[in-house]
Amino acid sequence: MKYWLGIDIGTGGTRALLVRPDGGVACGMTAPHEDIVMHRPLWAEQRPENWWDAACKAVSQVLAKGGACGSDVAGIGLSGQMHGLTLLDRSDEVVRPALIWCDQRSQEQVDWINATAGKEMVLEQTANPVLTGFTAPKLLWVRDHDPGSYERVRKMLLPKDYVRFRLTGEYVSDVSDASGTALFDVMGRRWAWPLAAKLGIDASILPEVVESSAPTGRVSGSAAELTGLAAGTPVFGGGGDQAASAVGNGIVETGLVSCTIGTSGVVFSHLDEAAYDPQGRVHTFCHAVPGKWHVMGVTQGAGLSLQWFRNQLTPALAEEAEARGVEAYELLTEEAAQAPAGAEGLIWLPYLMGERTPHLDAYARGGWIGLTAKHTRAHLVRSILEGVSYSLNDCLGIIESLGAEISAVRASGGGAKSKVWRTILAGVFQKPIATLQTQEGSAYGAALLAMVGTGAYGTVQEACRAVTVERQRTEPDPDLVEAYRVPYELFRELYPALRTVFPRM
Ligand code: XUL
Repeated sequence: MKYWLGIDIGTGGTRALLVRPDGGVACGMTAPHEDIVMHRPLWAEQRPENWWDAACKAVSQVLAKGGACGSDVAGIGLSGQMHGLTLLDRSDEVVRPALIWCDQRSQEQVDWINATAGKEMVLEQTANPVLTGFTAPKLLWVRDHDPGSYERVRKMLLPKDYVRFRLTGEYVSDVSDASGTALFDVMGRRWAWPLAAKLGIDASILPEVVESSAPTGRVSGSAAELTGLAAGTPVFGGGGDQAASAVGNGIVETGLVSCTIGTSGVVFSHLDEAAYDPQGRVHTFCHAVPGKWHVMGVTQGAGLSLQWFRNQLTPALAEEAEARGVEAYELLTEEAAQAPAGAEGLIWLPYLMGERTPHLDAYARGGWIGLTAKHTRAHLVRSILEGVSYSLNDCLGIIESLGAEISAVRASGGGAKSKVWRTILAGVFQKPIATLQTQEGSAYGAALLAMVGTGAYGTVQEACRAVTVERQRTEPDPDLVEAYRVPYELFRELYPALRTVFPRM
């Protein structure tokens, strides 16, 4: 049997997925990553070598579990957490731990870019304002605060592209992921050379960029030994995790919108023609579909909010979950269902790693507002699911205001597995929440891009039409819609009330 392999370098772990010729999933395996290292609040680093080790593990395990050998794999697609600054020296050694997507330390460098190039040039060249989440200011932070490392830099890669480099020896990225560097001409689908020059960034550190279903090299002999893949297997461009997830969710035509709740939360809409929010609250990036774009709003601390709660406040839950043979998250969302909608006035601000949409504020901080002695743990969890949903609704509102016609939202990611969370989302969004037969998101989208690359499908749209089947819909419950009206209004008033306090913390 022939298979296509999708590899997604997530934040919590790397997932490898084997896909059959009919688009069905044969099997998937995830190898967890080391914990994010946070030397200070709002800083976040991971070791690229750990991504590669996890990829080797996940790939060899998925081949073993699927009863497949390397030569059964016709092509490989890659996807990964976006924006992460991965630096290599002249011997291709990693220069320092990567500053990942949610790292917020580079506001000074954002200000410097705006002062040096001018906000207009940045917008004209990249179609977006520069944000601390993006890669260029992270690179300049290294220039300013770790000059010894900066001097050694010969290549700058994104997380999935580092794994590509270890697989193939090639330095290549794809248009969707490169869009999040703040150095990419999103309209022209090529590096923004004049901006890089203006910022004094050596253009030779940037990798080649291709469309997402284009070939980018072949698995090397040494990578074959470590992964069980066959040397010579072709590797295709792939995409940033959100664009790849959108392909996995069939969001490749106008009118379709998805909401992915992983560590981050993203509302994503396809665009035939590039359009952008003049205030820059949502990102306009190249899609993983050749010649198309997309717009997305990002909640930094979506699944992260629940993960933080689980890790810090319910340490005993893991044992209980193991005894019952379920995931701890399932127990938490079950508990949330015991509290009433609106959590009796308790509101969670999910700004654990600052916030992008709609506030674009690296200093924003999370927290509960409205806590009383009456509130229980069930209220705390429910308020987290609701606060994240309110923040995602902020994203959806902006995307709708750009003209997207939204009849339903396709949900994916860990958060979409929970019926309780889907019901809350439907009530807050006031839209049906649809889930698909295949809920694999990014790794699945990456495998589909490899299928297009090898000619198994003619186009990405054709692949998506053939394989995306809606499994079920959660309609908005009118009582919930009503119950969320006032809490959502209050949620929207809280950030402006606290904005000036956050930077002083
Ligand atoms: C998108 C973003 C996150 C990361 C991690 O802009 O920063 O979605 O890609 O998933």
